[in-house]
This record gives sequence, structure tokens and C-alpha cells, in this order.
Amino acid sequence: MQSTILFERPRFQPPRSTDVSAISVIEKKREGGSLTPEEIRFFVEGFTSGAIPDYQAAAFCMAVFLKGMSRRETADLTMSMAESGEMLDLSNVLGYVVDKHSSGGVGDKTSLVVLPLVVAAGVPVAKMSGRGLSYSGGTLDKLESISGFNVSLTTTQFIDQVQKIGIVLAGQTADLAPADAKFYALRDVTGTVPSKPLIASSIMSKKIAAGAQGIVLDVKCGLGAFMQTVEDARELAQIMVDIGKSHNRQVTALISDMNQPLGSAVGNALEVREAIATLQGQGPDDFVEHCVVVAGHMLRLAGKASAADISDVRPMLETRLKDGSAWEVFRKLVEAQGGDVSQIEHPEKLPIAPVIQDVVAPRSGYLSGIDAREIGLASVDLGAGRQKKGDPIDYAVGVMIHRKVGELVQAGEPLFTVHARTQQAADQARLRILAAHQWVDKIGLPIFYDVILDS
Ligand code: URA
Repeated sequence: MQSTILFERPRFQPPRSTDVSAISVIEKKREGGSLTPEEIRFFVEGFTSGAIPDYQAAAFCMAVFLKGMSRRETADLTMSMAESGEMLDLSNVLGYVVDKHSSGGVGDKTSLVVLPLVVAAGVPVAKMSGRGLSYSGGTLDKLESISGFNVSLTTTQFIDQVQKIGIVLAGQTADLAPADAKFYALRDVTGTVPSKPLIASSIMSKKIAAGAQGIVLDVKCGLGAFMQTVEDARELAQIMVDIGKSHNRQVTALISDMNQPLGSAVGNALEVREAIATLQGQGPDDFVEHCVVVAGHMLRLAGKASAADISDVRPMLETRLKDGSAWEVFRKLVEAQGGDVSQIEHPEKLPIAPVIQDVVAPRSGYLSGIDAREIGLASVDLGAGRQKKGDPIDYAVGVMIHRKVGELVQAGEPLFTVHARTQQAADQARLRILAAHQWVDKIGLPIFYDVILDS
């Protein structure tokens, strides 16, 4: 009998700790293996120093995207990325350091209101923020629509300011979690952003490196978020809470809606105007509620509130928005960082687009959806965001949404306003934003779903 020789595909051999290489780490993850803390640290350090090139780091990100990581691996990746640069310790300056982070959204100007609000409630904050990416806006871009506002502070200036006035809001220094900046830039162009372990380690490494002891995470879910469903957002949130626990940080994760834009304004100066109105007690209801809840949980982590539903600090926070004290803190922040205070005192002095076009409802009905991602992309097309990293942005342009999901609107009523640089840009945005609105004639459940006849 003729024997059959079977050629087996060589099985992947995990590297011994002495012969870790970039390729062995990539191959191990590609095959679904579990990386040791040493292998993860080797890869992160190698990539940060430049010893491991972009193409291998891109392959690593794709392997993690496809095969995932355990909680332990994700916690190790977070710590290696946090320790890839300077680790800030603000505990001598602030006592307990409380921070917040949003996973990114459309119309999300929360930090502009929440930080002054928390400070007005007696807890100092020192926050590092980021720029907008794709359709999701960034706090630094919004602040820079105020002339002169300086987001590039040295670590010493950052610490001095929080010591002096109790609040500082600036860009992340190049030394803070540099591995994340490198990984994020690669992920953005290799289709590997929406990976739970990669998002969790990216966010948490920055917060840990910035010295946060208590962290409120605002995890967005819906059409305009990386996580489209509540289940996915909950899982991402739980991963980050666990990372916090394994590194001795207190983390509260809020899962918030990003199916429609937050508040009414989308676009940099427009959002600053809405933040100012909110700080003066005149914000849109959904945005005010969002800010009060985030601020309440920051106070809770800082030991200034005890109720899990923040009911014990809610009235005080609402008062701080109405009595001008949160607004006064924002004014001090702008002044301290070189911003033109007259522009925030008179928001009509903030950049204004040359073309402002009101758009009315094309029909009557209930609004059943306003696709946040489409609204974000329309404002990027208008120039409010970047097509790619480093592109200049137009602070004046964007959109004001006048009606929200669930409202009954009559044909001809104001629906939104486009703020554009040119008439052509306004016309394009109008069509895209109109198409992002979905309508139904009635809300509630139908009595019958269908009728099937026998012929
Ligand atoms: N925000 C971050 O900081 N990192 C991610 O990966 C996604 C959102």
C-alpha cells in the first residue's frame, strides 16, 4: 500500500522570552495567541523609538483588530503606552486629580462647559484635550476659534496655571503617551480605529499618563460614534473601567447617545457660542442635562457627591450654570490662556461665516432620525473639520440644528441653518443635511404591520 505523506502547515511556535522580535509578536497575535507583558512592552517601546517601522506596527494593529486582546493584554498595552513618555503627577498640586474623556462625537462641546462647572463647584481641573478627527470635533479646535487662545502650554505653564486659577485646558504635550500618538496616526489610515482594545488602551494610556486618579468616561454610541450599539459601547466602557481598576484608578463610564448631534451647534465658533449660552444658563436642554450628569460624576469621584445618580449635587450644578459662577470660571480660563475675552463677552465677535442659509422643513411629520455622522461629515465638507491630519480648518462654518429627534415639525418651519464660506458649499451642505433627516407620519406602534392576501 502506498503511503500518503501529509505536509502539515508548520504550526506557529510562540517565541521564547529571549527571542522576541516584532515579527514574532505580530505572528503570535495573527494566530490568536495571548501576548505576554514583555512582548507587548517590547513592541510598544520598539515602535515608539522607531526601531519597529510603521508597516510592522500597522500589521500589529490589524492583528489586534481581527483577533482581539484579553483584558490582561489590554491593561498591559495601556501601561506600556502610558509609560512610553512622561508620566505627570499632579497630586501635589491638586490633591485628587479628576479628569474626563469623551470617545468623540458630533456637536460635543461638553468639556467647554463641564470643566468650568466642576471648578465652580469647588474641584480644580487640569485637562489635556485633543483635536478633531474625521467627522468628530475636538476641544482644542473649538477653543482656537477664540482669537489668541493658546493651547500649547509647557508642563510648567500647565501646572502654574492650575495652581493659580484652578483650571487649565490645553493640548497634550508631545511627551505624553507618545506611543498612542504614533499608533493613532497609523490606525487612522489602516482601518483599525474601531477596535475595542485599541480604543480602550489609547484613551486610558493618555488619562493615566496625565496623572488622573478619577476618570469619567463619556462613551458615545450610535451613528456618529465608533461604537454603533449600546452593547458595544457597554463592552468598551467595561474594558476601560477594568483597566482603571487594574491600575488603581477610579473610573465611571457613562454611555451616551450619539445618533443625533449633541445640542444644536456643530462647528467650532458655533459650538463656542452654544457653550457660552449654556454657561449663562441658556443652553439647549439635552446639552445642559449631559453637562450636569458628566460634572456630577466628576464631583462624585472627587468625593463631593455621594449619590450614584448624582441627585445630591444636581441642584447645585444647575444653579452654578444659572448664577454666572461657571461662566466666570470660563472667562478666567480664556483670559489666562491669552484668548480675546471681548469675543466671549460679545459672542457676535467670534468668527462669522459669510453665507448663512436657513433651511425649512420640506414636509410635516415627526423627526425619527438626524444622522449625526452625516451632519459631522457635512460640516467637515464645509471646512469645520479636517479631511486629513494637519489640514487648516474654518472656525466660522458649520450647522445649527433647530429640531431634534421625536419632535413634530410642520412643513415650512425652520429645520436647520447652514453657515458656509461660499454659496456653493452651503447648497451642497443643505442637500446632505436634509438627506440626513428621517421622518415618520406618526410615532408609536402600528396596529397592523402587514396584510398578506391569498391571491
Ligand atoms: N479617542 C481616543 O483617544 N483614542 C481612540 O482610539 C478613539 C477615540
